[in-house]
This record gives sequence, structure tokens and C-alpha cells, in this order.
Amino acid sequence: MPTKRLALRIGIAGFGTVGQGVWKHLHDHRKPLEERVGARLELHSVAMRDTTKARDVTVPAEKIGTDPIAVATDPEVDIFCELMGGTGIAREATLAALRAGKMVVTANKALICDHGAELFAAAKERGARLYFEASVAGGIPIIKAIREGLVANRFGLIYGILNGTCNYILTRMEAEGKDFEPILEDARRLGYVEADESLDLDGWDAAHKAVILAYLATGHWFDLKEIPVRGIREITLRDMEWARQLGYRVKLLGVIKRDFKREEVFCSVEPSLIPADRILAKVDGGYNGVCVEGDIVGESIYIGRGAGRDATASAVISDIVDAAIDRLHNVPAFMPTYPSARIAFAELSAVKRAFYLRLDVKDQPGVLAEVSAITARHKVSIGSVLQMPAANNGHAHLVLTTHRTSEQQIRDVVAALRKDRSVLGKPLVLPIADFSAK
Ligand SMILES: NC(=O)c1ccc[n+]([C@@H]2O[C@H](COP(=O)([O-])OP(=O)(O)OC[C@H]3O[C@@H](n4cnc5c(N)ncnc54)[C@H](OP(=O)(O)O)[C@@H]3O)[C@@H](O)[C@H]2O)c1
Repeated sequence: MPTKRLALRIGIAGFGTVGQGVWKHLHDHRKPLEERVGARLELHSVAMRDTTKARDVTVPAEKIGTDPIAVATDPEVDIFCELMGGTGIAREATLAALRAGKMVVTANKALICDHGAELFAAAKERGARLYFEASVAGGIPIIKAIREGLVANRFGLIYGILNGTCNYILTRMEAEGKDFEPILEDARRLGYVEADESLDLDGWDAAHKAVILAYLATGHWFDLKEIPVRGIREITLRDMEWARQLGYRVKLLGVIKRDFKREEVFCSVEPSLIPADRILAKVDGGYNGVCVEGDIVGESIYIGRGAGRDATASAVISDIVDAAIDRLHNVPAFMPTYPSARIAFAELSAVKRAFYLRLDVKDQPGVLAEVSAITARHKVSIGSVLQMPAANNGHAHLVLTTHRTSEQQIRDVVAALRKDRSVLGKPLVLPIADFSAK
């Protein structure tokens, strides 16, 4: 039952896709949420850049402003929601709110990835709190799952489809037999691609999320520069067809793998082949999916909408409710407390996986032998070979899969192949993410 006085006031900076969703659903579902929290939840104020812009959600004029810092530091605001995006004003406003001792909720993965250490330190110093459920996998409560439901576990492996736009494009390429460009054009038209396309297509958005998951799994903030990050631009329809012939599907996967003995973590975002019978291989369209392997629970899998107004608002509102309960009863969300000073990014020679290797080669005798000689020289053993003639131009495609080999060895092989006279253009290397075969 709500107590007599208590009202927690919510200030929102950013009234775009997510901000409007949060306002709408918080407004519409207020009663049961207030019951849950035991206090009134008051939508107090909102900041946006352009107050004249038409919006889907109506807010009383007296609650609207243009200064995010004013909302962040307003003594009347108990819970500040940063829903602007970017790492400029968003960082300033978030820090200002934390320094004012407030509960802060953000959906901003770039902000948490790039400035998480600074923000959590500021929160700790001022007894403030930072909630960030919507920053990873949109509507899937993956952060809550990791830090609450799976609290008893240590995590050796977390991997997932973390960018809905790339998954949408890859799914449609495969389903419709079309190449990357026309599907991308369609995704742009439908507004599925970020204004800065590189965030989606080159893997950076997924990498931001992978860094956050790596933090939750290890208590360590990895620098984005340490992580191999590749997007989906190089993937052709033919790669998807050849992958299918080999029993795989191509997905953009974020992977966090921890070796407890060596105290090393490998984190990457790369288009990867995943066995077609794995559940994650069947996560299609704009959906995200995350697999978490805990030492006690084993494997658990989470699938849901990775973005969009309503799914993201659902995650933000969950944080608002937690923040409200925390404000009232001082029940902070668990944060990883097991950082090890020794934890390090894994050496490339220690990371072993199988790979898919696609080469464009001269269509002439002896090429396969040349390629095999190069792989043998670097002690990379071949699992399978497909050879297809290209369209009557004296070229052929060679598709090889390797047995498990180190990241360093495959890089050396590719460097040698690039120097070979019979290999045309840049070989495409994709890891094969068969986590069932350990
Ligand atoms: N969209 C999704 O599906 C999704 C999913 C998960 C996480 N997120 C994250 O959620 C955050 C918001 O995303 P979004 O899609 O809602 O973005 P958006 O639609 O572009 O909205 C951004 C909002 O911030 C306001 N804003 C930007 N700079 C401002 C400033 N200096 N002062 C005041 N207001 C400012 C904009 O005002 P105007 O409207 O006046 O321009 C706009 O209302 C981002 O961090 C994003 O990564 C989004």
C-alpha cells in the first residue's frame, strides 16, 4: 500500500524514442507500479532539445524544459533518467545527477562502456546509484538476470546476438536470397539503422554491450580498443549459403570468455558461424539473444526484442522501480565484487577456435595445394573444403573450415595467403562459435 506522503519524482532528459516510451508506459501503468514501490511515482520534468517538435506523447507544458543539467540537479528530482544518448551532455548530466546523490537510470550503452568506471566511482563517492538495464539487449532483463537471478554463479562464457539491426539484415539476406546493400537500404528506409550507421554495421553498438557484459562477468572494465570488433559489411549472401551447406548460420556475436585458471578474458564482436541447431542460431529478425554459462546453473538463454520504444521502456521502467525501492529502503542492486587485479585480456595465442576461411583464388591447377601448404606451415589443420567456380572470369571460391586453432595462427595464415600469387583480394575469416564442442 502506498504510504501517505511518499512521492518519488522522476526527471527525464531525452524525449525521443525511449524517453517518450518511458513517459507513456509509466503514466499508463502507474497504479500497479506505485503499489509495488509503496510510494507515488511522479513524472516531474523532461528535457529535450527542441520543444516545438511534434511528439507522439503529450506532456504538460510546465514540465518541459531544454536543460538536462537542470533536471539532473533539480533538488525536487529523486530519480534522473538519462535518455539522450551519446557521451557528451549525457555524461555531464549523469555525473551531475550522481554527484547530487541521485538515483540515475540510463539506457546509454556508449556512456556506460566508455565511462562506466568514472560513473560508478562518482556514484560510490556520493552514495548515489546508477541503473543501466536498458543498455544491453533492450527489453531482455539480462543485467538483472546476471546480477540477481544468477548471483551465485561465476561466468565462464557469455555470448549473444546484441545488435538487432545487424540480425535483421542478416536474417533478411538469408530468407530473401538478397545481398547486403539492398537489405540495408530497406532497413534505412524503415528507420532501423542508427543515424551513425557505423555503430550498428561495424559492430560498435554490440561492442559497447559486450564491454558491459564483460564487466558484469568479471568486475573489470575493458577498453574498447582491446577488443576485436568487426561488423557485417563483408558478409555476402554466398557466405551465408556456404555456411548453411556446412551446417551453420551467420550471426553477429558478442563473446565474453573467461579462463579462470589463467585469469584471462577474451572478448570479441565478430560475425560468426553458429551451428544451425543451436537455439541462438534460430534467433532472427530484430530479436536479441544472450547465452549465459554459469558454473552452477549451466547454460541459460534469454531471447527478446533488443530495441524499440516499448521494449526499451520496459527495461528503463524496471530500473526506475528498482531505483525507487532502493531510494526508500536502501537496497542497492548487487554489483560484481570479484574483480581481480590480475585479470587480463587473453593473449591471441591462447584463444582457440575453429574458423571459416573464404578465399577468392585463380581457377587453375595446384591452387588448393598451395593454400594447404600455407595452412600446414602455420600448423593449422583443415576440417573441410568447398570449391566453387566464380562467374566465368578465371576465378574460383575456396571455402575452408579449420580445426580449432589459435587466433594468432589464423592471423598468420591470412597474412601469408594475402602474399600468395594465386589468392585474389582479402580472405574472409569468420570464427566458428561452436560452444557445445569444448
Ligand atoms: N531506440 C532504441 O531502441 C534504444 C534501445 C536501447 C537503448 N537505447 C538508448 O537510449 C538512449 C536514447 O535513445 P533514443 O533512440 O530514444 O534517441 P532519440 O530518439 O534520438 O532521442 C534522443 C532525445 O534526447 C534529446 N536530446 C539530445 N541532446 C539533448 C540536449 N543537449 N539537451 C536536451 N535534450 C537532448 C533529443 O531532443 P529532441 O527530441 O528535441 O531532438 C531527443 O528527445 C540512447 O542512449 C540509446 O543508445 C535506445
